[in-house]
Amino acid sequence: MRKIAIINQKGGVGKTTSSVNLSAALATAGQRVMLIDLDPQAHATLHLGLAPSPDEASMYHVLTEETSLAEARCQVAPNLCVAGSHIDLAAAEVELAGVVGRELILRDKLAADEDQFDYMFIDCPPSLGVLTINALAAVDEVFIPVQPHFLALHGLSKLLETISLVGRRLNPQLRITGIIFCLHEAGTRLAAEVTSDLEAFFEQPRHAAKPWGTARPFHTRIRRNIRLAEAPSFGQSIFDYAPDSHGATDYQQLAEEVLGHGIAGHVAAPGHAGIT
Ligand SMILES: Nc1ncnc2c1ncn2[C@@H]1O[C@H](COP(=O)(O)OP(=O)(O)O)[C@@H](O)[C@H]1O
Ligand SMILES: [Mg+2]
Repeated sequence: MRKIAIINQKGGVGKTTSSVNLSAALATAGQRVMLIDLDPQAHATLHLGLAPSPDEASMYHVLTEETSLAEARCQVAPNLCVAGSHIDLAAAEVELAGVVGRELILRDKLAADEDQFDYMFIDCPPSLGVLTINALAAVDEVFIPVQPHFLALHGLSKLLETISLVGRRLNPQLRITGIIFCLHEAGTRLAAEVTSDLEAFFEQPRHAAKPWGTARPFHTRIRRNIRLAEAPSFGQSIFDYAPDSHGATDYQQLAEEVLGHGIAGHVAAPGHAGIT
């Protein structure tokens, strides 16, 4: 199972949109996918048509009680399961404060699910607290969505530092493997500049030994597309809501890239200065 956290502590960069639509695209391609919603705002849960309820088992119960992931997830489409969130999850941060081993709860619970899925995505909250640390301790890979904005690089070093720290202390396998350009405005000078700045940053040879030495931007750019913004209010992925839109085309193409690039193949890929 490939275990991937979709992280950026900034809000509004496309984490949830990417988690949901990438999960849906891979499920349609025949991969067995589990999406874990680790954001108390429960946007991914709502986006896939589930109504979070305090009585139903959710990620809050998984992290704070004996509840298993199997009890908290439900199938929303062929090959696609969602372990939903609820606003109560915001309290988990405080409730877990005194718990020994709180960073590793999700990793332990996931161990029971290894054989049942091909892909597991975690939609993370816009913060670097205990929920995000649980995600980083449980996965092997991180995808970072970025919005080509002049502040895109701002805050990135804090994120990389956190990932590096979790890698050293809790999860030596952890690698950033992909940068997703979301809300891309093709043809603008700003998008081109931010894109090339990020490419240059990740390709610097001095980063080779870091957890982000393996990171590279995906070729696919997710264009700004109104259908992607409309789909959540219908509780549908872009493939059900607007299969002929640019948004569906872009996430489909991104899914193909994800399928074709495992960590090993990626490191060995020729022509990537700084990754060798
Ligand atoms: N490519 C896109 N085109 C248009 N709107 C988008 C696109 N990606 C995301 N959005 C919208 O932008 C907002 C923020 O995206 P979201 O995925 O929720 O970000 P995050 O999870 O990082 O906070 C949402 O309203 C979403 O529908
Ligand atoms: Mg979100």
